[in-house]
Amino acid sequence: MAQSVGIKDVARAARVSVGTVSNVINRPDTVAADTRARVLSTIDRLGYVRSESARQLRAGRSRIMGLLVLDMGNPFFVDVARGAERAAREAGLGVMVCNSAQNPNEESEYLSLFAEQRVRGVLLTPADATGRNIETFRRHDIPFVLVDRVADGPAGCSVSVDDVAGGALAVRHLVDAGHRSIAYVTGPPGLNQILDRRAGALKALAEAGLGPGALRELPTERLDVAAGRDAGARLLGLTDRPTAVFCANDLLALGLLQSMYAAGVSVPEDLAIVGYDDIEFAAAAVVPLTSVRQPAATMGALAAGLLLEETEDRSGAAAHEHRQVVLQPELVVRHSSLRTR
Ligand code: RIB
Repeated sequence: MAQSVGIKDVARAARVSVGTVSNVINRPDTVAADTRARVLSTIDRLGYVRSESARQLRAGRSRIMGLLVLDMGNPFFVDVARGAERAAREAGLGVMVCNSAQNPNEESEYLSLFAEQRVRGVLLTPADATGRNIETFRRHDIPFVLVDRVADGPAGCSVSVDDVAGGALAVRHLVDAGHRSIAYVTGPPGLNQILDRRAGALKALAEAGLGPGALRELPTERLDVAAGRDAGARLLGLTDRPTAVFCANDLLALGLLQSMYAAGVSVPEDLAIVGYDDIEFAAAAVVPLTSVRQPAATMGALAAGLLLEETEDRSGAAAHEHRQVVLQPELVVRHSSLRTR
């Protein structure tokens, strides 16, 4: 295998010092134009590639930001990643995206990988409801920002949406449309955002004078379309079937819609459906889906901004103070929940 070309090889061939080669790469405006041109042509001719890990070790500051999402198959997280990547790129950083697939063990492995790589910091939506993985990660003294989950103040920053308000928006809309028996397709009950949406749903029912019995819960193992289809099959088997369904996210709602369509159940005439996230496919569904919108790309960009602020060189500036940014959800009403009676 060809010997890799080092910075010393370039300096020798271009008849300059190693420092001049480094300046051509990192501070090109400090080098005379003719010298810069000679060094750059030597770099091309020898095929020199800067060692990012060596640069990181010297500078002690990685140009990589880690992003650990809960489900790479969920467009919500694609939008979060898009927002984070744009913000990171503006600061000259790249984003390394990993997928915990809702698995705490995989989450732990990826957090270890980020620590080994000494990334600048990590944005993550926790899969581990106990918080143990984050506690372990904190020992590495690498900053993190929680996305879609409120961090406890001293631990770190976070960007999330008020999911209690979001759940209440969804169910209040169904109650106002005349529904008095509502199913909640919950997803895995361990996730904080799922528990908060449920709490909001119960709050809206209580406001309308309806007890928790008006909410029929259908737990699912996952938060994807297949789990939504499975919940739809169970819903069809209920004798006293609710007239409306609130789903913990849009993928569940789209799977449920698919099973209703296959069973000849008319939406919204026979069953109203409301989802959560307002992913792009909500509006594009065969029956456009009412959904509680989370500004996913904005959440990603804000989280990246908090991380950059925490990791920038703060010599002389005031110490970074952790912030928990909580955004407000918005109900986007479409055909799947319109009152038909
Ligand atoms: O992936 C799980 C869900 O949690 C997403 O759909 C989004 O709603 C996040 O809050």
